[in-house]
Amino acid sequence: MAGLALAGPTGAVLAAAGDVRALLTRTELDRAGALRSAADRDDFLAAHALVRLCAGRLLGRPAQSLTVVQSCGACERPHGRPRLVEAPGTGVSLAHARGWVAAAAADGPVGVDVEAVDGTDVDWRTAGAVCTGKELAAVRSDPDPRRAFLRQWVRKESLVKVGAGTLDEAARLDLPVYGREPPRWRGWRLLDWGGTQAVGCVAAREEMRLRLLG
Ligand SMILES: CC(C)(COP(=O)(O)OP(=O)(O)OC[C@H]1O[C@@H](n2cnc3c(N)ncnc32)[C@H](O)[C@@H]1OP(=O)(O)O)[C@@H](O)C(=O)NCCC(=O)NCCS
Ligand SMILES: [Zn+2]
Repeated sequence: MAGLALAGPTGAVLAAAGDVRALLTRTELDRAGALRSAADRDDFLAAHALVRLCAGRLLGRPAQSLTVVQSCGACERPHGRPRLVEAPGTGVSLAHARGWVAAAAADGPVGVDVEAVDGTDVDWRTAGAVCTGKELAAVRSDPDPRRAFLRQWVRKESLVKVGAGTLDEAARLDLPVYGREPPRWRGWRLLDWGGTQAVGCVAAREEMRLRLLG
């Protein structure tokens, strides 16, 4: 069975999700409450609600019946890769970025990322640190370098989140830049989406279906 990814603007997701606070755990609500900016809180709430909607749809059960937990390998804080208490074999992932959110659920590991495309220039130091020479050359010669860089970035982050590598190793995640075929990396399938305002990517072993909201 194919996995499922859902993505869209935070406002559209909040409008579709109903009472998001009723879906989240006390721990997640406390994390949201600690965020200073209302926009960041909304992004957090929307992404954490969306991951339940996504997994609920995949598993054919109500989103309210799913508990998301997170633990960190490096500290005691309740953050890190999310998992479902009720469905430990189902992989879940979520992402939030200034007004945009994404979530994914699959029958195994899955990683999703989304980034807002803003008008600022490419940070070439970051780009140089995370891209291979070939990727960097393609980004530089693209008519829209900012978007081209974010496209590679979300692919790499989705691979990091699926567990295929770490952010420090991003430059070793050498991705095909402009293939006509959907990009892949060592058996991981990558599914891209996006327009002028945001770009996203989901990585999984299995085929993924994507639904855009809003
Ligand atoms: C995973 C990571 C690349 C994503 O960061 P980001 O671009 O800032 O944020 P995104 O919105 O795209 O994704 C964040 C979500 O990814 C998930 N996530 C966090 N760490 C993850 C991991 N190691 N693997 C998979 N998913 C992870 C969480 O659900 C998180 O959302 P939340 O904080 O609201 O719960 C980044 O958090 C990272 O590099 N983590 C590893 C190193 C680290 O954090 N160490 C500190 C430990 S104290
Ligand atoms: Zn930690």
